[in-house]
Amino acid sequence: MTTTLAICPDNDTLIAAGARRIADRAEKAIAARGRFTLVLAGGGTPRALYAALPASLDWPRIHVFWGDERCVPPNSPDSNYRMAKDALLSRVPLPAENIHRMQGELNPHVAADAYEAEVRRCFPGAAWPRFDLLLLGMGKDGHVASLFPDTAALEETTRWVAANHVPQLDRWRLTLTLPVINHAAEVAILVTGPQKAAILREVLSDDGHLPAQRVRLVDGALCWLMDAEAATLLDSVMLPIERISDVT
Ligand code: 6PG
Repeated sequence: MTTTLAICPDNDTLIAAGARRIADRAEKAIAARGRFTLVLAGGGTPRALYAALPASLDWPRIHVFWGDERCVPPNSPDSNYRMAKDALLSRVPLPAENIHRMQGELNPHVAADAYEAEVRRCFPGAAWPRFDLLLLGMGKDGHVASLFPDTAALEETTRWVAANHVPQLDRWRLTLTLPVINHAAEVAILVTGPQKAAILREVLSDDGHLPAQRVRLVDGALCWLMDAEAATLLDSVMLPIERISDVT
């Protein structure tokens, strides 16, 4: 696994850099294999990135998945699908069959089984799916997707998708599992704002056991894409840093 830190001076630069990265990986994947498999993160950070993705990408050859979902209907304000639909799916020519939605409206275990079957159909015969680009956010407790500290799904080693009860939220969630994340070709973790500075320093300072620290790609590239506010405490972190300076 190669790990890089891409530090952007502000959120606009980060959004532009993220959109360039997605467009670049899509072009390369489609040229090489005829399709681009993209996993969307939930939460609030990626919304502006999704809104910045151009309609000019080769959307008919792009397949969109989710890294996790809340157990709510797709039209709920809490739905990660709804956030992506409002910011992206409603304005790009992505065929319906290329939108692989986690069915948060179903019983969590039924939904996890259904999504695992859906992803397996998209990666027939694979021991693990190799997503071309898997986007994640990170919570202030170091969770990624819906793999929260000390929750059962974090220890899942065989399933591709799990229903995860999160006591910290008293909620059920659907989530890709760590082996799926770690078998991706590339993972980009988006971290912005001063409120994430402390957890980012903790996560990047050693090989600990927080969920974000267990993102260790088997054969892929991990990029932490962050803004300067999130990066304020990283002066002692010994990792290659790419400073992204402009929006162009
Ligand atoms: C979710 C996400 C979750 C999110 C982090 C960061 O469903 O909430 O998938 O993992 O990425 O909690 O969220 P923010 O981007 O809102 O800080």
